[in-house]
Amino acid sequence: MTPLVTLLSLLVLGAQAQHGAEWTYSEGALDEEHWPLEYPDCGGTRQSPIDLQIKKVRYNPSLRALNLTGYRFQRGEFPMTNNGHTVQISLPSTMHMTTSDGTQYLARQMHFHWGGASSEISGSEHTVDGMRYVIEIHVVHYNSKYNSYEEAQKEPDGLAVLAALVEVKDYAENTYYSNFISHLEDIRYAGQSTVLRGLDIQDMLPGDLRYYYSYLGSLTTPPCTENVHWFVVADTVKLSKTQIEKLENSLLNHQNKTIQNDYRRTQPLNHRVVEANFVSYPHQAKGYLHMRNQGSRVEPSLTCHPLDSGSLQA
Ligand SMILES: *[C@@H]1O[C@H](CO)[C@@H](O)[C@H](O)[C@H]1NC(C)=O
Ligand SMILES: *[C@@H]1O[C@H](CO)[C@@H](O)[C@H](O)[C@H]1NC(C)=O
Repeated sequence: MTPLVTLLSLLVLGAQAQHGAEWTYSEGALDEEHWPLEYPDCGGTRQSPIDLQIKKVRYNPSLRALNLTGYRFQRGEFPMTNNGHTVQISLPSTMHMTTSDGTQYLARQMHFHWGGASSEISGSEHTVDGMRYVIEIHVVHYNSKYNSYEEAQKEPDGLAVLAALVEVKDYAENTYYSNFISHLEDIRYAGQSTVLRGLDIQDMLPGDLRYYYSYLGSLTTPPCTENVHWFVVADTVKLSKTQIEKLENSLLNHQNKTIQNDYRRTQPLNHRVVEANFVSYPHQAKGYLHMRNQGSRVEPSLTCHPLDSGSLQA
């Protein structure tokens, strides 16, 4: 292409982006590299996700465990929607979390990020020492000092996300996920909704919720607002390979393409410090064990590929 043609095509792409093209991760005018064109915060300096570099994490013994209330089984109907980017479950504000500094956050929704575009690609958003996990779960909350999520999302101390990483456990079905996964086929097309009857979020989260990483960041999707207090749980959720493949292959986006690799690349830490309320977490000292292996067994060997392609592009 001549420079003029290149310039023209950039202008056209820019114009499309300005006119409400739907954002994507990797295709079209508004892929993640171009989010800042339409959503300036996405180009900010405290963005999420990040790579959690264990050696640089600061142990803070005054950080206490999160106090989670209402996360246990609740009766009722919980809407579950394919929004074209992910599957999202609406949560009741009777579910809340009080953080170590006493701030209370009410739950709003829970959604997932995954990979799947080729058999060995994982899709978590946060990485640990460069390792990408297979799936990441986000439970989104808003500060209870605001009247609603809509109000809180504009405030500098508005949001908190409890994040958990998923690893594959080849043949062990996680029955706490069976109901959720069996409903995915009801919401194949973007915009479709169904309901889950009864919900136990605590069962869908890691068994040990005491230990976490904490830092200040942003939403990982547009508008990438920089008002999220992140809590990434150190323990992981285990799902079977079949369950993971179900999540990776069940849902279509607005263009009727399978939703895969719906994760954002890791963002610069800049001057931020990641804190943790533990010194070393046994599992994550050998983070390479968490990767999805191509074979059916995960061997404790350093010879397996240390990084997937996604994390190299951070
Ligand atoms: C946790 O929060 C609930 C309700 O918000 C409160 O009743 C309970 O005392 C708290 N527990 C701890 C250990 O702080
Ligand atoms: C997606 O597929 C459904 C069902 O075949 C169809 O009704 C819809 O128009 C399709 N959407 C697009 C954008 O092609």
